[in-house]
Amino acid sequence: MAGLDLKIGSLFKKKDRTAREAREPRGPAAVVQPMHRDSARKLKDKGSLPRFHSMASDQASGWAPDRFASMRAKLRLAFTPSQPVADRRMFAGREDVLKTVIRAIEDQRLHAVLYGERGIGKTSLLHMLSQAAQEARYIVVYTSCGANTTFDEIFRAAAADIPLLFHSGFAPTTSEAEKGATLADLLPPGPVSPHKFGDLCSKLTGTRVLIILDEFDRCESGAFRRDVAELIKNLSDRLGRVQLVLAGVAADLTELVEHIPSIRRNIFALRVPKLADAEVLQIVANGEREAGLTFDPAASTQVVAVALGSPYIANLLCHHAGHFALDQGRSTVLPRDVSDAVDRAVMEFQGRIGKPVQARIRQMFERGESEVLALAARAALSADGPFGAAELQAANGIDAKRAQHVLQELTNERLLLQQDDSEAGLRYEFAEEGLPTFLWISWAKENVRTEPGPARVANR
Ligand SMILES: Nc1ncnc2c1ncn2[C@@H]1O[C@H](COP(=O)(O)OP(=O)(O)O)[C@@H](O)[C@H]1O
Ligand SMILES: [Mg+2]
Repeated sequence: MAGLDLKIGSLFKKKDRTAREAREPRGPAAVVQPMHRDSARKLKDKGSLPRFHSMASDQASGWAPDRFASMRAKLRLAFTPSQPVADRRMFAGREDVLKTVIRAIEDQRLHAVLYGERGIGKTSLLHMLSQAAQEARYIVVYTSCGANTTFDEIFRAAAADIPLLFHSGFAPTTSEAEKGATLADLLPPGPVSPHKFGDLCSKLTGTRVLIILDEFDRCESGAFRRDVAELIKNLSDRLGRVQLVLAGVAADLTELVEHIPSIRRNIFALRVPKLADAEVLQIVANGEREAGLTFDPAASTQVVAVALGSPYIANLLCHHAGHFALDQGRSTVLPRDVSDAVDRAVMEFQGRIGKPVQARIRQMFERGESEVLALAARAALSADGPFGAAELQAANGIDAKRAQHVLQELTNERLLLQQDDSEAGLRYEFAEEGLPTFLWISWAKENVRTEPGPARVANR
């Protein structure tokens, strides 16, 4: 890692745009310049503004003849960086993870908590879990929590998904059960309490229910988290037929379920791991199959090298690289398309970093201190969150003195924040969530190249 040169200073300069980017539209023009009528007509005739490739109905648009139109349409479904995977055929790897979660739910009757950074694949995993449970005739209720989610809203809706015929007090032939009534019809009008809902669940027979609360960390209400903890306790005490699965962004379990320590033995907690290189290759292979594209082996290697086990980055790069190849009239994705995709990703990530932080990074580059940033970014990514001096040393092969220098410098710059964690020693995290990825991918832009010649992955 010695001599690592992270040349991202230029990223902050306006002129640093690829030729492709330069041809593409930016935001609305600030000033409308008067234009000669003839030149205006000429432009209009040429139809020079970019247009959509396909209609809202998914048909090819017709005004831009594109022999790759159907491949483009398939490519959009093959790599979905902004959506979780819902289709089994597109879900890469993770068999062991899924098996472990199913065992915990089915054999140990535990409630499950899945945690990990954004983009690591929690929601996709939940989709696969839901499908497997539905195949086994579980009733699955999936909810994505929001900032203002309330216990009453979520569990009243869950009750409405459970038919009354599974309540032991109502035979399937009773008129209520036959009319399609649900457990929600038994709830009193006031807010549902954990106790009341737990009571109702204890009467279930002949079915099992999974209630999935995704994005659990987004809910700001302490009362909501306390009530969920209370419900898990209540359900566990009664060996109920209802199990909860919580998922959210957290560096460790305690952060996600701060009110739940008393019920730790009732939950199975799993940090969703990074993908192995072979699993990233499977994402590429799945997309190739779906879209009818071919990735040159050196291009696949490059995706693996830059993704660093992130399914999100792998999808993002494959998506952009595939479109770049089609734009060039090729159905084979080459390493240069992946390099262009990395450039595009750098721009996307940069836009998500706050201006003050961008300014502090720019200043570090101007002072020639880019390597310090790269060392810390790599440590944060390999630790999946907060890291200490030991991880910084191990991830980069540097000595203790250098590691201390890096930590000190970035703390002074307020780019790294020191956490209060006496047990594990001093730990640090970047001031913004997307920062390590941005710094890493910017470094990769300059340093991870597999072209020309045989695959060469720098610094791995
Ligand atoms: N096992 C997988 N195979 C293929 N793509 C995946 C897999 N897991 C996640 N992805 C992709 O990674 C991105 C992030 O996944 P998502 O499930 O939304 O993560 P999270 O919920 O942790 O933020 C999405 O683009 C999704 O399509
Ligand atoms: Mg998610």
